[in-house]
Amino acid sequence: MRIVDLRSDTITRPTPAMRRAMAEAEVGDDVFGEDPTINRLEEMAANRLGKEAGLFVASGTMGNLVCLLTHCGRGDEVLLGDASHTFLYEQGGSAGLGGIHPRPLGNQPDGTLELDHLEAAIRPDNIHFPRTRLIVLENTHNRCSGSPLTPDYMKDVGDIARRHGLRIHVDGARIFNAAAALGVTASHLASEADSVMFCLSKGLAAPVGSVVCGSRDFIKEARRTRKLVGGGMRQAGVIAAAGIVALTEMIDRLKDDHENARRLGEGIAETKGLSVDLPRIQTNMIYINITRSDLSSADLAHRLAREGVLVLPTGPRQLRAVTHRHITREDMDHAARVIRQAVKG
Ligand SMILES: Cc1ncc(COP(=O)(O)O)c(C=O)c1O
Repeated sequence: MRIVDLRSDTITRPTPAMRRAMAEAEVGDDVFGEDPTINRLEEMAANRLGKEAGLFVASGTMGNLVCLLTHCGRGDEVLLGDASHTFLYEQGGSAGLGGIHPRPLGNQPDGTLELDHLEAAIRPDNIHFPRTRLIVLENTHNRCSGSPLTPDYMKDVGDIARRHGLRIHVDGARIFNAAAALGVTASHLASEADSVMFCLSKGLAAPVGSVVCGSRDFIKEARRTRKLVGGGMRQAGVIAAAGIVALTEMIDRLKDDHENARRLGEGIAETKGLSVDLPRIQTNMIYINITRSDLSSADLAHRLAREGVLVLPTGPRQLRAVTHRHITREDMDHAARVIRQAVKG
């Protein structure tokens, strides 16, 4: 049976070039700073993001945690979206491990935090309040249809942060998708951020890893924090090598994933029993809402899986489909047919 796996871009397998690079990687002990492949990846990543330095970490979750723990002390407050990955899906790690106080603000459907709301949430100096230290933004925003945050919005948040002496961390797990969708560079999108994390292991198809980028001083501290959380990885150049291929060969093709996502969206938009917000499909994610009252997302996902189309239920009546390098235009047409049929049946 033809399988079209749209559950996530994290299911991507390494390319042949990645496997070769991994086999041939020069390595050393990275805790001693002696892994040349990791050093190269960190430098390339920092250049791409327009920052002074980079730090290779095991995962996006570890990258976000390391950044929050590095920016904030115990009792400090972080302003972040109530639909953000950091707030919803990282086990509250910064609170659990760092005593950091999360203050969730309502995400707008496009992934932004409303600017007045954001500024109003910043605490004045008062003995009763935690100290607001950090704003966390997510770009692209996973739960908000994979929406990209624009440079103009970033600039507005940057102005607020400067006015109040706050720092900005960007969870840029898919920042290269945002850059591709907006036709700007990732460094432009990250220019207001004091730290930015991006993932090699999602649409860029590397098997493992994320990179944190920031100033030289920030990364020096973050390196200590990474060791604290057990993230010092020794000869991890064998995995960083795939990350180098990801950065050099896999960014330019992300626009194909975006076209495919749009194609699937268009293929199912008119389906009775479903609703898809087409203008919101700007990157590689399609959120499908079920309007038929007698069909749950679990039921529909099950019906689709029987036909080889795999999607992720993200709510009782919502499914998510994500495009990536193993998905073709023809897969999209096939998946759209299967979905239309399954909703009818
Ligand atoms: C926006 C966002 N941030 C962070 C992460 C965490 O990445 P990881 O799964 O590598 O820990 C994800 C994972 O899906 C994500 O979508």
